[in-house]
Amino acid sequence: MSVSQSFATSLSSSSSAFFVSSNFISSGYGVQNVPFPAKSIGVVKCVAAPQEQETVFKTKVPRNSNMAKLQAGYLFPEIARRRNAHLLKYPDAKVISLGIGDTTEPIPEVITSAMAQKSLGLSTREGYSGYGAEQGEKPLRAAIASTFYGNFGIEEDDIFISDGAKCDISRLQVVFGSNVTMAVQDPSYPAYVDSSVIMGQTGQFQKDVEKYATIEYMRCTAENGFFPDLSTVGRTDIIFFCSPNNPTGSAATREQLTQLVQFAKKNGSIIVYDSAYALYMSDDNPRSIFEIPGAKEVAIETSSYSKYAGFTGVRLGWTVVPKQLLFSDGFPVAKDFNRIVCTCFNGASNIAQAGALACLSPEGLKAMYEVIGFYKENTDIIVDTFNSLGFKVYGGKNAPYVWVHFPGQSSWDVFSEILERTHVVTTPGSGFGPGGEGFIRVSAFGHRENILEACRRFKQLYK
Ligand SMILES: Cc1ncc(COP(=O)(O)O)c(C=O)c1O
Repeated sequence: MSVSQSFATSLSSSSSAFFVSSNFISSGYGVQNVPFPAKSIGVVKCVAAPQEQETVFKTKVPRNSNMAKLQAGYLFPEIARRRNAHLLKYPDAKVISLGIGDTTEPIPEVITSAMAQKSLGLSTREGYSGYGAEQGEKPLRAAIASTFYGNFGIEEDDIFISDGAKCDISRLQVVFGSNVTMAVQDPSYPAYVDSSVIMGQTGQFQKDVEKYATIEYMRCTAENGFFPDLSTVGRTDIIFFCSPNNPTGSAATREQLTQLVQFAKKNGSIIVYDSAYALYMSDDNPRSIFEIPGAKEVAIETSSYSKYAGFTGVRLGWTVVPKQLLFSDGFPVAKDFNRIVCTCFNGASNIAQAGALACLSPEGLKAMYEVIGFYKENTDIIVDTFNSLGFKVYGGKNAPYVWVHFPGQSSWDVFSEILERTHVVTTPGSGFGPGGEGFIRVSAFGHRENILEACRRFKQLYK
């Protein structure tokens, strides 16, 4: 398939990519010169033509006003769109993607063979199983409890298996509803803010400050060690906190997390702690919020096999909702989460769960850590490259992300320059919130030869 064919296919199979692109051109981000395929231009013109508009049928259903508050496209589809546009402009370029943060290395066979066996079993009477428990299979819940939370008092029934942490973030938002306030690290993984907007927890986007009204943005900068000054943070019902952090790559220390738990306790808030990168930690920082005394009364933890075991496509994650966590009326949060899981989700794939269980066998754990170790070597290569070029570089040690500072520059401009001149896709820091402006995130997920080649091109560009 040619590049333009594959782009056309991705357009026709992804309505979000299509709508983002038309949105994007009209909002003037500065790539109007990039040629688009005739198909795309044709459809856009057709919708814009007045005589055509008269015949367009509209339903009487009002658009969800919260959806209308969302800004442009979700960050990663937008980056994919720009990458595709770049490929159209330079069809022969060897584009290297260090942007979206998708894993690249094969899943170890000790894990895939368990999935294959489960899958083949489905063709037999004995091995067939249909719907499973919505909360996940007991052996997997028990294995997660003992492997990751052994000494922290988390029990099997506190764990809900899911199809990924991102999906659980949205399900948690459904539990919280529209009448809560929320805080996020700034910068942070975009799903927290966007799901909050969709749920109607926020006001409109304020263009002057690049923030949604009513969200408390907890600024995380190099100056404060990427941990917010909690004395300046207002009370909110919910606090999203990700450590090791995407995108800054920094991990909170035990003392900092103790402060966070005390802050939540003082304010009667719930922390949603995202530990999707905990196994990448090199420092002796907590891997789980439940290492902090008292956290079970104020925190939920969501995590994922995506970056641990290359399950970004397989899809498997989990969320811990301790039975000690109560709403203001004394009702257990876990019971409401269970209700949402049973209503909105019918349980994770049984094949994926077989793979997840195999990950936690002694051989599976060893294999998982080997792949993580490989990505950590990639991270070192990227960190060394930018250090050697004189940049201020953060992250990398405890997460597969390197956070590079370009003081005084717009991150989308830096993103565009790097793409244009090196054919390497990165992620603009401002896509993670106003606190990310002036940074780019470089992901360490890549084949070794691509990481080395990307670093060679960075050295040429910035020498
Ligand atoms: C911080 C963070 N949380 C959650 C996710 C999504 O995880 P999953 O693939 O399990 O939905 C990601 C993916 O990049 C992430 O960076």
